[in-house]
Amino acid sequence: MGVAAIIPAAGAGQRLGGRVRKPFVYLNGHALLAYSLKALQESHAIRWIILVARADEHAQAAALIKRHRITKALPPCVGGSSRAESVARGFASLPRGAGWVLIHDAARPCVSRPLIDRAVRSARRHGAVACGLPATLTVKAVDERREVRLTLDRDHLWFVQTPQVFRRDWFAQALARADRALSQFPDDAAILEAAGFHVRMIPGDPLNLKVTTREDLVLAEAILQRRNQTSDLRLQTSRVESSCS
Ligand code: CTP
Ligand code: MG
Repeated sequence: MGVAAIIPAAGAGQRLGGRVRKPFVYLNGHALLAYSLKALQESHAIRWIILVARADEHAQAAALIKRHRITKALPPCVGGSSRAESVARGFASLPRGAGWVLIHDAARPCVSRPLIDRAVRSARRHGAVACGLPATLTVKAVDERREVRLTLDRDHLWFVQTPQVFRRDWFAQALARADRALSQFPDDAAILEAAGFHVRMIPGDPLNLKVTTREDLVLAEAILQRRNQTSDLRLQTSRVESSCS
């Protein structure tokens, strides 16, 4: 059964600010959204891509899809008032043949094809997986006066990322069983957890950062630039090797 990827990209980008909306902010010469689209297009694990965007940004998104030859893209969906609503709208337009759903935030442009492939492989084994990073810092829970109420055991804490990949039927059942507004679930995996499904954490990528503020743009640009240089180097090396053989 094929995997359909949903890219929620319908946020307001309030914390980033600026004149250009977050999905279309330029990073090393390309729109931020283009990077996730390209990684999903290049992954053999993905068959369809459903972009969820604001209605007034569909024309801009369509131009991007055309320019980058994202042939797996289906017609985009209109986003909702919260991220989870946007995901649910994308999920409602999944093609019939999709047995799996991968959800990846447009706001994470540094996702790599190997990470996507690994997440899909693990999901096929476990049914539902979320990428993340084991906590490296101690986390304390505080009350409204900032007095510490609890120091959490780091060994059992993970910071969650996307992609997250689920069996389609599990996610459909979880959405149907959701006992509160979708906006109250902190991430997509939490909707499954609340419905009693088991979600497995798998190691994500420390470089798969989420662009939230202007500072994150600087970091994302550096990561993408470095990756470009590395792949240019690989290309040159393989050219030299093939000309020598
Ligand atoms: N998102 C969405 N629909 C919404 C809200 C968010 O599709 N109603 C998407 C964003 O476009 C983003 C991802 O969910 O790709 C993660 O959200 P976040 O990083 O919070 O981005 P924004 O909501 O755009 O930013 P902000 O919260 O600063 O307004
Ligand atoms: Mg937001």
